[in-house]
Amino acid sequence: MIHMYQIQCLNKISEVGTSRFNANYICGTDVQNPDAILVRSASMHEMEFGPELLAIARAGAGVNNIPLDKCSEQGIAVFNTPGANANAVKELVLAALLLSSRRIVDGIEWLRTLKGQGAEISKLVEKGKGAYVGPEISGKTLGVVGLGAIGVLVSSAAVSLGMDVYGYDPFLSVETAWGLSSAVRHAQTLDEIYSKCDYITLHVPLTPDTREMINASSIAKMKDGVRLINLARGDLVNSADVAAALESGKVAAYATDFADDTILGAKNVIAMPHLGASTPESEDNCARMAALELIDYLENGNIRNSVNLPAVSMPREGSRICIVHRNIPNTISRFSGVLAQAGVNIENMASKSRKEYAYTILDVTGDVTANAAQAIDALDEVIRVRVIKAAN
Ligand SMILES: NC(=O)c1ccc[n+]([C@@H]2O[C@H](COP(=O)([O-])OP(=O)(O)OC[C@H]3O[C@@H](n4cnc5c(N)ncnc54)[C@H](O)[C@@H]3O)[C@@H](O)[C@H]2O)c1
Repeated sequence: MIHMYQIQCLNKISEVGTSRFNANYICGTDVQNPDAILVRSASMHEMEFGPELLAIARAGAGVNNIPLDKCSEQGIAVFNTPGANANAVKELVLAALLLSSRRIVDGIEWLRTLKGQGAEISKLVEKGKGAYVGPEISGKTLGVVGLGAIGVLVSSAAVSLGMDVYGYDPFLSVETAWGLSSAVRHAQTLDEIYSKCDYITLHVPLTPDTREMINASSIAKMKDGVRLINLARGDLVNSADVAAALESGKVAAYATDFADDTILGAKNVIAMPHLGASTPESEDNCARMAALELIDYLENGNIRNSVNLPAVSMPREGSRICIVHRNIPNTISRFSGVLAQAGVNIENMASKSRKEYAYTILDVTGDVTANAAQAIDALDEVIRVRVIKAAN
């Protein structure tokens, strides 16, 4: 008998995502006892989770509306959708780069003041436009700080716009390195970015290390007339120091998605109301990615983009035993001991740990009886066991 998966949507989720669920899924807001939950911003901190609940997927990046510790203790995998809005942010970064360079915003605002001048407008434009001259970006140096989902896209796009791009990321992942244009130069230090670049764009998370990384002392190392772009997080910069550098002309322009009183009061600021991910496509991408992550977990036990369990996946052959367990030495040999006693042969396995938790998938031949699964479940270090039977 085919298992009908029950998916509860706590928020309205784009159909681009929900349409991924085939006829074996029931998906809706009023689903009871769900196998999985799709959520955007609804708070789940007060929710009780039923024993059927296997996974929660957040269509978005942040997961502070989800009680992660409680989920981990109940063996519930929590997913998010990193990078799903990267293209939306990249496009706004390109706009910010151009807006910081050409004096488009000031020019548009000035032009509005000419309303009512009738036939004089074109003459006034020619006379006044000299105040709005700004340099081209082609041939200039761009420093990209943080080469993750967004930084990589920005780097490649800037290369194709003729910029000389330096990238800095001491934690660059191998996967990201593959996606990076070979024209992007590898900066060994932030100081190299500061001293060489005409434009600097930030794409790092806010951490104790990166908080206020742009401050009076880092600005002092930059070129005179540098242009800064920050669509990552407001607290990556010290607003008062940036405002002072704008006032002195050391920084020629600051384009940001994060305003505060100091920034709004400074000159040569292009402040946007946190528009980075505000595109319909971005919402669709998040929903699609969240649905696909749930489907792969429910049907195959594969974990990608979980925030509480390790990433473990492999092509599935036959029956699969999926085990969420504590990260304790010797655990895997105990699984194989139990299975050997039950006459079940392990054909393939993958296992990884993440802090105090671990996840193991075992592809097996032989009938995984309820007794064998129960025997694994009874091990102290095991939090949750699930058997996905081979499709006949
Ligand atoms: N404006 C918006 O609406 C919007 C939307 C999405 C994301 N963001 C922000 O953009 C930022 C980047 O997002 P992403 O999806 O590319 O994230 P990501 O996790 O894919 O990439 C972040 C990169 O920063 C690197 N990094 C971490 N610490 C660093 C340091 N000290 N120095 C240099 N590199 C460092 C990491 O190695 C990683 O490669 C995040 O801060 C995110 O909050 C903003």
